Amino acid sequence: MEVDLKEQELNENIDRGKLPAHVAIIMDGNGRWAAERGLPRKEGHRQGVETVRNTVRCGSDLGIEILTLFAFSTENWQRPSWEVNYLMSLPEKYFQTELPELMRNNVRVNLIGEKSKLPAKVRKAIEEGAEETKVNSGMVLNFALNYGSRSEIIMAVNRIIDEVAAGKIKEKIDERDFTRYLYTAGIPDPDLLIRTSGEKRISNFLLWQLAYSELWFADVYWPDFSRIHLLEAVYDYQLRKRRFGKV
Ligand code: IPE
Ligand code: IPE
Ligand code: MG
Repeated sequence: MEVDLKEQELNENIDRGKLPAHVAIIMDGNGRWAAERGLPRKEGHRQGVETVRNTVRCGSDLGIEILTLFAFSTENWQRPSWEVNYLMSLPEKYFQTELPELMRNNVRVNLIGEKSKLPAKVRKAIEEGAEETKVNSGMVLNFALNYGSRSEIIMAVNRIIDEVAAGKIKEKIDERDFTRYLYTAGIPDPDLLIRTSGEKRISNFLLWQLAYSELWFADVYWPDFSRIHLLEAVYDYQLRKRRFGKV
């Protein structure tokens, strides 16, 4: 197989002992990728699923412990209904074709987001995917579906209010206590956030959890994101000095 020289160089230079444990990705640009080719937006989403496949494979091969993919936001419901419906048809298809490879690669699937408002077939697909892969001990693959960070924080606050009312919380809580009420309870914060498509914004993704994450923006649209971009992001991450407010 022919390997790009740059890819080979990156491969050799990445320190496997210092990988970002948790990589989160805002997969953006499917629609523009399609429009530039004179194709309907849904072709961009279809191609975007191929990139998900490839990225999961690459992340797992590289030794990333946790990969979190932003697939559908709480704001994305405002898109035309045909597009929402198409996006909602993808999880089922993804698991139908990908489950054998996820099992082979020892990947465990998890959902972050408001499950109750997802169509039953989507919930079922993800729940079955999570159930089947729960024995796996390799990379954790979090799909953020119907996820919005502000609504997550409000959900957490309301759960806390309920527990106070029920007498289950009797003292003031701290930051660590608070994280236990988020969808990401038990998941360490992302070390590295990648966003594709050239947009430089967070779009209501993991606002609490990204407090000290390293940010990496790629100009390519999500369907064109490939192993070399992931390696570039990881390599760049390793050149940075994280200070967490210290010197
Ligand atoms: C990312 O691509 C997929 C989702 C947000 C669901 P977009 O659909 O946002 O594509 P652009 O940003 O319009 O090009
Ligand atoms: C962010 O992309 C959401 C996902 C990738 C699922 P959007 O395309 O929805 O974000 P904006 O609208 O450009 O901020
Ligand atoms: Mg977009």
